Amino acid sequence: MNKEQTFTIFGGTGDLTFRKLIPAFYNMAAADNEQLNGQIVIIGRRDYTSEAYRKLAGEWVEKFARLSYREEFYKELAERIVYYRMDFTDEEEYKGLDEFYRASGAGGHIFYFAVAPRFFGTIVKGLQKVEGAGSGKVVIEKPFGENLEAAEELNIMMEAFFQPDHIYRIDHYLGKEMVRNIQTIRFANPIFSNIWDAEHIECVQISALEEVGVETRGGYYDHSGALKDMMQNHLFQIITIVAMERPQGPGVEEMHQEQMKVLETLAMPDDAAGSAVLGQYVGYRSEQAVAPHSATETYAALRLFVENDRWRGMPFYIRTGKKLMKREMQVAIVFKSSVPGVPQNILNIKIQPTEGVYLQFNIKRPGELDEIIQAKMDFCQSCSYINQMNTPEAYERLLGACIRGERSWFSQWDQVETSWKYVDALRERYVSQRLPVYAYEPGDTGPAEADLMLERYGHTWFD
Ligand code: BG6
Repeated sequence: MNKEQTFTIFGGTGDLTFRKLIPAFYNMAAADNEQLNGQIVIIGRRDYTSEAYRKLAGEWVEKFARLSYREEFYKELAERIVYYRMDFTDEEEYKGLDEFYRASGAGGHIFYFAVAPRFFGTIVKGLQKVEGAGSGKVVIEKPFGENLEAAEELNIMMEAFFQPDHIYRIDHYLGKEMVRNIQTIRFANPIFSNIWDAEHIECVQISALEEVGVETRGGYYDHSGALKDMMQNHLFQIITIVAMERPQGPGVEEMHQEQMKVLETLAMPDDAAGSAVLGQYVGYRSEQAVAPHSATETYAALRLFVENDRWRGMPFYIRTGKKLMKREMQVAIVFKSSVPGVPQNILNIKIQPTEGVYLQFNIKRPGELDEIIQAKMDFCQSCSYINQMNTPEAYERLLGACIRGERSWFSQWDQVETSWKYVDALRERYVSQRLPVYAYEPGDTGPAEADLMLERYGHTWFD
């Protein structure tokens, strides 16, 4: 075991750890990925022995890991897992953690805060009692605060203890295979890169639809809503990747600069009523831990613009929602018609559940009639068994990147800050203009108003 590397998870008995982190560690071990080879310290309040925890975690691995469960691989991982019981909200208990680390020869710390952001402050204070913790890395989950002000406070506090370039703000959408493919599809293909602008594109549509509701996360979600839970982070990241200029080099700074330029020019028309639709699924207010009169949105659709020379005047439509008819995430590029009346070319980058690329273009109907029909080419990347097994999952990929110290696919503070400014302003406008939150039926496509918003501008959602 490599004692030079210790990976500690705060919130080690939570959903995220069981569903995503431990399975990601298992996939790394099973894929013989040497990057994570040190001790894994699981911190939780519950009374497990390491042995009992390993057994339980093994069951989650069987259910959720990408690679099939093999006893010998899990054994190799399980031997490195240690359960350490403590109340992480009690600063005094960190002295014991320090002693535990010393006794086990731990070092090269990576801390994962798999807990709500309100606990970050206490953990950071507690870690001041742990030797070597401040020079370690830390991975934090979104949401980074609840609004701009809270996010700023959180950031100051984190940066006062950890080095800024040791803070990894995870956005798991950036680890998805097809999100990473957007750049290649665009820049490596002149047929697309040469016409990737408002002159040739009619609109871009980014959809992240979910079939599930809030399930057991009502307490968190009711204070968050779709704008903060999905738009402010995941979908804004995707807009910046679709709209950015080609980075000047392969490094983190180059990509980041281009993403920031997009975020800084992102604009929504003043008329919020015509450019934003919020919705709530019927039955949401009866979900566990949701306020009975909650006005929290479980659906949001926005019409945005990127005010630069490449994109001025062309709408980016983005939408996300829970309890919809299907789970589907895609980026559809709708090109302008060559001549009025001729159907548009559409490039659809399919992110999940199917990964692939769909292209719709015009051909002549076979036979004597000189009529245009649409050809549809549908490349399915995830249909191949081999591809599926080889593609690392988002968390697996991002944890590996953090261990290697690669930061390009993590959110940077200024991105988070700018996104918060945007979402806070939108929310204020929504409240001050007293705009409604429309009801929609579970299993539907979302509120009809979201379709009307596009129709008003001569567009329809691409399905
Ligand atoms: C999370 C949100 O960040 O992403 C959840 O908090 C959402 O509400 C989830 O369900 C969706 O992730 P994925 O990978 O299933 O699209």
